[in-house]
Amino acid sequence: MERKWWHDKVAYQIYPKSFYDSNGDGIGDIPGIISKLDYLKDLGVDIVWISPIYPSPFADQGYDISDYYNIDPAFGTLEDMDRLIKEAEKRDMYILMDLVVNHCSDEHEWFQKACEDPDGEYGNFFYIEDRKEGELPCNWRSYFGGPVWEPLPGHPDKQYMHVFHKKQPDLNWENPAVREEVFKNINWWLDKGLGGFRIDAIMNIKKKLPYKNYESDRPDGLSDISLMLHDAEGIGEFLGEMHRRTFKAHDAFSVGEVFNENPDELPDFIGDDGYFSSIFDFATTSFGKSDKGWYDCKTPTPDDYKNCYFKTQENIGDVGFFSNIIENHDEPRGVSYYIPEGDICDESKKMLAALYFLMRGLPFIYQGQEIGMENMGVLPLEDIDDISARNEYQVCLDAGLTEEEALKVVAKYSRDNARTPVQWSAEENAGFTTGKPWLKVNPNYTSINVAAQEKDENSVLSFYKKLTALRKNPEYKETIVYGDVIPFERDRHNLMAYHRKADKDVLVIGNFQKEEQSVTLPSEYKKVLINNYPDMTAEGNSVTLRGYQVLVLELA
Ligand code: GLC
Ligand code: CA
Repeated sequence: MERKWWHDKVAYQIYPKSFYDSNGDGIGDIPGIISKLDYLKDLGVDIVWISPIYPSPFADQGYDISDYYNIDPAFGTLEDMDRLIKEAEKRDMYILMDLVVNHCSDEHEWFQKACEDPDGEYGNFFYIEDRKEGELPCNWRSYFGGPVWEPLPGHPDKQYMHVFHKKQPDLNWENPAVREEVFKNINWWLDKGLGGFRIDAIMNIKKKLPYKNYESDRPDGLSDISLMLHDAEGIGEFLGEMHRRTFKAHDAFSVGEVFNENPDELPDFIGDDGYFSSIFDFATTSFGKSDKGWYDCKTPTPDDYKNCYFKTQENIGDVGFFSNIIENHDEPRGVSYYIPEGDICDESKKMLAALYFLMRGLPFIYQGQEIGMENMGVLPLEDIDDISARNEYQVCLDAGLTEEEALKVVAKYSRDNARTPVQWSAEENAGFTTGKPWLKVNPNYTSINVAAQEKDENSVLSFYKKLTALRKNPEYKETIVYGDVIPFERDRHNLMAYHRKADKDVLVIGNFQKEEQSVTLPSEYKKVLINNYPDMTAEGNSVTLRGYQVLVLELA
């Protein structure tokens, strides 16, 4: 594997609306991000991905862009953005924007022009078809519910495709003019000094054409979009062209939101000259997901969790780097989801942190994860903002669940869980804003917040700093960044352990349960690099791990 400038970095995701509000309007903004760059630097962060900040009607919280060349006034101005890039540069940090080009907003000028003249130049920027009452071009179901087809505004005889919300019309990538516009935009931002992009929903850009129906899995007669995606061939041509024309020319970093990749294709996606620098490992987040909806999903057990990670590492080997996460803005909080209920505590949070962070690949920390922020719990329907959660609530009711049961299901998976404001302090509104926060703050901010944890050397935050420091320590960097991943006692129930092996042999060993567990180390250890307890119980090579204890040991 060819070595790249970003391999030894630590990345962090900002969900800007909820990060830090500088002007009291209740919405996080770019000046707020700038004021927290030193905090991020101190945490050990180098690369910062910011979820969309472009002008948007916010039907899907900014993932519906109405102008690719500007900043939404809620977040600031283009000058603020330039300043952010400069301020990051001063601190040897890199800013990534979110590239959302499977679709734009229905309020984007392209779509407006397509509605004015569906047969004109911009009509071909979208998938527009003639419409007959009671008939659809195909039975694909959109991610947020209902068919992907919607009547074209002003043209009852026509319809357009949206695989997400109806305010997110899909761009027609088969049209070379669309691709040119996308590449031009990427290069415009990269020329400003941007470090690169996180690439949204990119596997959706290739549609199965001509349209075709798939087997339905719900009473609505529609088919899960994944069936179509599985069948659509040739996405590599689009992705390869994008890579050559944009990222490669700038030596920029790109990380794709790629699902269901075929292991044989990994070299094409993230090999030395892959379409992307990296893609996220979603093995754990997609585990147990059901086509029927959230109510039918299965939560991974600690053993499932471990197997997901090891399978990914086996698939990738030395081909490239996955990007590792425990959560993002589309997922519940990792600590609430992966740690069995009742066991969520500082020790288990730290264990989960060490186990994913020290895997081979690029670690991403999602805002608030570094202080162990948790899910919000069950909320009344009117407090739910996430469009996906609102749709899934309906799916639950349609499947026969009671309202109470439906709210419980939604509470577990809602994207709002990760979108509540960052808990900076125990002050009002968690110190996030002096105004009224756009989304309710988690009431546990009085005990879980940055200010308290900064002062406590045993806090979750201080633990994350130890992890980033180990990754950057010149003595261990080669091993932690590039070392092989070799599972240890892989079949042992509720134990997740692996070697990282290069010039050194480092063993990461986590007891994924509240009961103690004893293990015999493969050899003597020289040094305890990280421990989430103040001490450890060892007799020779036999170690007794306390509940959720995690150890990082340098072996002899
Ligand atoms: C991605 C984003 C998600 C968004 C969707 C549509 O999955 O992460 O937040 O809703 O794409 O853009
Ligand atoms: Ca603001």
